[in-house]
Amino acid sequence: MSIDGYLDRATGDRLLLSNEADLDRVDGVRAACDAIMVGARTVRQDNPRLLVRSPERREARVARGLHPSPVKVTVTAGARLDPCAHFFAAGDCAKLVYCASPALAGARERLGRVATVLDAGQPVDLRRVSEDLFARGVGRLMVEGGGTVHTQFLTNDLADELHLVVAPFFVGDSRASRFVGDGSFPWNPQRRATLAEVRQIGDVVLLRYALSDRFDG
Ligand SMILES: NC(=O)c1ccc[n+]([C@@H]2O[C@H](COP(=O)([O-])OP(=O)(O)OC[C@H]3O[C@@H](n4cnc5c(N)ncnc54)[C@H](OP(=O)(O)O)[C@@H]3O)[C@@H](O)[C@H]2O)c1
Repeated sequence: MSIDGYLDRATGDRLLLSNEADLDRVDGVRAACDAIMVGARTVRQDNPRLLVRSPERREARVARGLHPSPVKVTVTAGARLDPCAHFFAAGDCAKLVYCASPALAGARERLGRVATVLDAGQPVDLRRVSEDLFARGVGRLMVEGGGTVHTQFLTNDLADELHLVVAPFFVGDSRASRFVGDGSFPWNPQRRATLAEVRQIGDVVLLRYALSDRFDG
């Protein structure tokens, strides 16, 4: 996020917040996960590939009997997703779409050839989604945004660890997406989160918070 807590600019091209060294660190975290989740708006706006980039990390995963890249996961209520988006088209890893029940039929028609479309109920509860992912073999899920998804994972106390990277500039436009929205967070003035690590990575800083006793320092 920016110094003022934004994940992007309000309009125009995607805003690059991290530097190369931090993007490489993120690639390492991705490679150590079983699945990566982003919200459907991030799929539409950023069109991310969500693949492990480093050939060495991909090879190391294959040597461990894994697919070169983790499973990709998204969640949607309206299912307005393009089957040609990189989320679906890049990499031959599994792609899961957790879709709210009312949009399920249309989603299966549109996306059924490129992903596994799952009925996530109505409303979609990310705790149930997480439990379903665990039942599918996902022990370690990396949630890469955006703010709507972050907010639900954090307010529902579903995250074990938070990696917050602060880029050295401001966005200064409240129309842009913030790191989190409003909500009742388990960490507050009475219950402070545990700061596990502070690491300078060039001109950005990584703050790692331990949010549960499952935190794997
Ligand atoms: N800086 C970073 O590291 C970073 C990372 C990721 C994203 N971003 C930025 O974040 C922005 C997007 O964030 P955002 O908060 O607007 O959107 P988001 O979290 O990416 O996606 C929100 C969408 O996900 C679906 N969704 C989320 N929770 C749901 C639930 N419980 N039930 C059903 N559907 C649910 C809905 O999809 P439908 O609309 O399809 O129903 C909702 O509109 C973009 O500007 C992107 O560039 C930045």
